[in-house]
Amino acid sequence: MEKLWAGRTDGSVDPTADDFNSSIRVDSRMYEEDIKGSVAHAEMLASTGIITDADRDAIVGGLSSILSDIKSGKLAIDPTAEDIHTFVETELTERIGDAGKKLHTARSRNDQVALDTRLYLKKEAEGVLSLVCDLIRVLRDRAEENKETVMPGYTHLQRAQPVSFGHHLLAYAMMLTRDCGRIRDAVLRMDVSPIGACALAGTTFAVDRAAEAAALGFPAVTENSIDSVSDRDFCIELMSAFSILMMHLSRFSEEIVLWSSSEFGYIELDSAFSTGSSIMPQKKNPDMAELVRGKTGRVYGDLLSLLVTMKSLPLAYNKDMQEDKEATFDALDTVRVCLSVFTPMIKTMGVRADRMLAAARDGFITATDLADWLAKRGVPFRAAYKTTGRMISYCAAEGLTLDEVTLEKYREFSPVFDETLYEAIDPGAAMKKRVSYGGTAPESVEKQIGYIDGFLAAFGKAAEA
Ligand code: ARG
Repeated sequence: MEKLWAGRTDGSVDPTADDFNSSIRVDSRMYEEDIKGSVAHAEMLASTGIITDADRDAIVGGLSSILSDIKSGKLAIDPTAEDIHTFVETELTERIGDAGKKLHTARSRNDQVALDTRLYLKKEAEGVLSLVCDLIRVLRDRAEENKETVMPGYTHLQRAQPVSFGHHLLAYAMMLTRDCGRIRDAVLRMDVSPIGACALAGTTFAVDRAAEAAALGFPAVTENSIDSVSDRDFCIELMSAFSILMMHLSRFSEEIVLWSSSEFGYIELDSAFSTGSSIMPQKKNPDMAELVRGKTGRVYGDLLSLLVTMKSLPLAYNKDMQEDKEATFDALDTVRVCLSVFTPMIKTMGVRADRMLAAARDGFITATDLADWLAKRGVPFRAAYKTTGRMISYCAAEGLTLDEVTLEKYREFSPVFDETLYEAIDPGAAMKKRVSYGGTAPESVEKQIGYIDGFLAAFGKAAEA
């Protein structure tokens, strides 16, 4: 294919160098945005009198036929083209002749690529948001189902206090609401049109940037032409939001892996979301969760790779910046595939309430409740803490749980004890008593579900707006 930029050079690039220089394998996925951007550009050029209406009609007609031919498979994107922008422009000129050569008036690939990438990421980020909302919805439903399910809550991975499994699940839902906020913020800041910045300095043509931006759905235009073509913050910001989202999915995955082990046995993954071993017939492995955990590193890597690429670049455009899309699209694809597997995995996982309760009965996890019981009867908390500590070492030495100790024995440790202590050390009762705002009691879980419902309704409305 003859180079659009042949002139200063004869355009005969060494084939290996040519392939090295090409980004079509990565940026061809933006063909629709590229064509949409070019249609708006041709319309703006005609409305400002820079090209004639006849040229505009030829360009718009040619671009529309290219779009429908790519979509129907009639036109294959040439893998040897330099990038999607040159491919579309070359094809246009082949189809409509000289009018096609006027499309690139008052435009450069530098502002064009910034425009296409923003348009593409804006659309794709909305898709990710709806996947995150699907996961939040599943967590909300599973939390409601499990608001009374008692499990040990952990600190230091040591059993700490009984919590509701629904409460634990909603902790992840809350993280995901923040992820939605971060992605939405990134989209809002990305939603500014760079087209018209041209190569770096703007143009001598009397373009109407605002009209072109409005036709493409942007509420505003960028303020500085050099910044417009040098900026990849919008990719970095989106990948930062994705990295934090992946960090949450990875922590959750780690718990899924632990919980599905025989040591914990708190959940059983549906067969559709687990795998077997090629040698050990007994195995049911949580590969999906492990892969989500693993792919988190990959998304961090994408973010880091672009941060490092950008860190020393002088203004304005440098070819290094072509690397932006490979990293950003990889992060996008990875987040999307992880969410698509993770959500149904959570939706279908079996919950072993019996195992959770048994674990909650073991390990003295209501020790705090026993100390609180004494403190509520006038024993200073520090003294109550000591007495309870002594009870625990007694039980540990005798191989007893707190509820197996007789009242007589309790009284040897403190005369304040009476039979109502047994209710305090029941893990279910202890969980239900934590009614403080945001606590683990079922009524608090209900309130959190209300919060999530409000969030999803408001977020859905914002997406429609
Ligand atoms: N393929 C290029 C990229 O993705 C498009 C911009 C090329 N601009 C240039 N001056 N060579 O960055």
